Amino acid sequence: MKSFFKFLILLFAFLGTSFNSNSAEKVEYLKTDWSFKGLFGKFDRGSLQRGYQVYTEVCSSCHSMKYLSYRNLAEKGGPEFTIEQAKAIAASFEVKDGPNADGDMFTRPGKLSDKFVMPYENVKAAQAANGGAYPPDMSVLVKARGGGVDYIYSLLQGYEDPPAGISLDDGVYYNKYMYGNKIKMANQLSDGLVEYADGTTASVEQMSKDVTTFLMWAAEPHLEARHRMGFKAIVYLIILTALVYFSMKRIWSRIETEV
Ligand code: HEC
Repeated sequence: MKSFFKFLILLFAFLGTSFNSNSAEKVEYLKTDWSFKGLFGKFDRGSLQRGYQVYTEVCSSCHSMKYLSYRNLAEKGGPEFTIEQAKAIAASFEVKDGPNADGDMFTRPGKLSDKFVMPYENVKAAQAANGGAYPPDMSVLVKARGGGVDYIYSLLQGYEDPPAGISLDDGVYYNKYMYGNKIKMANQLSDGLVEYADGTTASVEQMSKDVTTFLMWAAEPHLEARHRMGFKAIVYLIILTALVYFSMKRIWSRIETEV
């Protein structure tokens, strides 16, 4: 018993120190409720559709999403636009295709099978247009950054005037949540910047949440299927445990107890 208490005390002491050291280094991100967190988490369809709108109308002029195709927008577990809507979305973009019989490249309206169109021809062109900084591809950006969704959600709302004594070069902005606080992307969001098709008020907070939800789905399109599978696995394990327990009792019941 004594050693058990000793163990408990040591355990708490260890947990205590590790929590302390964490809180000392960590930036406090802005908090919001994500519908997709937790064992039963699901994406909010409305938020995904609005997030797609924010991405297209605001972010897509600089950031590519090269792993997404227009047909993904209609798939289960995603924004679940109807096939007709996804076709219309695809057709609203000009896609470069070719060469044709004369050996020339040409443009045509997008199809469901096309990848999202890229804002720039190549990395150099993207850098040249953004003061030397490359707007990263956003297909899996949520996974590429420590802090994930909370980080991106906060970053979009983290623009501030620089504190006294910090001077910024042209094209560099102060952001509370960016590593080193300096970012070569200007503040992109302002209240009412987009007009949501479903009538939701487009506050900076709302747009940040919606576009981040959309980015989360892009990085983890099978999240909902995974959550369903996890739940099934747990039910299966509970049943299995019960079966093993009762069969064990039965097997051992044949052995005579010594008196
Ligand atoms: C005018 C071009 C432009 C637009 C529009 C734009 N960005 Fe950026 N973004 C950039 C550039 C350039 C960088 C790289 C900044 C750097 O490395 O300092 C960047 C970086 C980022 C980063 C990564 C920060 C990091 O940790 O490295 C995120 C996240 C991001 N943008 C999100 C968005 C979202 C979401 C939108 C749409 C709401 C958006 N951006 C719109 C140019 C843009």
